[in-house]
Amino acid sequence: MAIEVTPLTPHIGGRMTGIDARKPLTPEEVVAVDAGMDRHAVLVLPSQDITDEQQIEFTKNFGPLQNGANATLRRADLRLDPAFADVSNIDKDGEKLARDDRRRMASLGNRLWHSDASFRVIPARHSILSGRIVVTEGGNTEFADMRAAYDALDARTKAEIEDLICEHSQIFSREQLGFTNFLPDERAMMKPVRHRLVRTHPGSGRKSLFLSAHIGGIVGWPTPEARAFIRDLMEHATQEQFVYSHKWTQHDLVIWDNRATMHRVRRYDDLNTVRDLRRTTTKSDGPTAAQVAA
Ligand code: OGA
Ligand code: MN
Repeated sequence: MAIEVTPLTPHIGGRMTGIDARKPLTPEEVVAVDAGMDRHAVLVLPSQDITDEQQIEFTKNFGPLQNGANATLRRADLRLDPAFADVSNIDKDGEKLARDDRRRMASLGNRLWHSDASFRVIPARHSILSGRIVVTEGGNTEFADMRAAYDALDARTKAEIEDLICEHSQIFSREQLGFTNFLPDERAMMKPVRHRLVRTHPGSGRKSLFLSAHIGGIVGWPTPEARAFIRDLMEHATQEQFVYSHKWTQHDLVIWDNRATMHRVRRYDDLNTVRDLRRTTTKSDGPTAAQVAA
């Protein structure tokens, strides 16, 4: 089957047909997906009715897997294999999470613009999200193009931010929502990591803004000044012209490059309807900045 890609917006997103993610890919198919990702940063592959095993095999074509499971949950409490980020509103018995469930509080962080695992020294590269059960009202996933956002900055701002280093932690993103009652071992696990604010994408050669809700500071800057500036950049980078909003159809497989995009989920009625999306992830190339000695 011929592989075809149709752009979804002028900057970001492509709809790719002609690949069957259930089957082993040929080297040519892997090259086509890689090229599509370098160009569009987000690819939507419709009608991919895959199993968890097939999703893991498909993901391995594009790089080493990064475990997605919430590190603070016991294995016995996980609904899915720890390779997966469980992006659903149900527990392992299929029950919808209660309004005040800690897991629900944590997943509300996905409503803020972010780049996956930016709180890790080696952050995420591809995120591959499979729509197993989708909702009809709300629940779109929005993607913002951090390359186009970088390009649109004025020369003075580009020069100012070129070598800035940001501190990322899940503590900072959750704090923004007033979620502050971390368990002591969670706090230790969430020690801030450092990343460059500007990075160059190895596939496309384009520079991009490495922004994320997990940012809580800029090295060498007073915290309030850093946070105010990061807010300005976030506002700039998520303007409508840089955004693709994905309305889910069951069995969509959506791949995004966390090195070139931010994303967020929009509100939906998670207390009354089930949304079951499952994410596999590959690791990024390496640390983007030297870390502070422990
Ligand atoms: C994710 C994520 C958003 C969504 O899978 O990393 O942020 O639409 N998902 O659920
Ligand atoms: Mn995410």
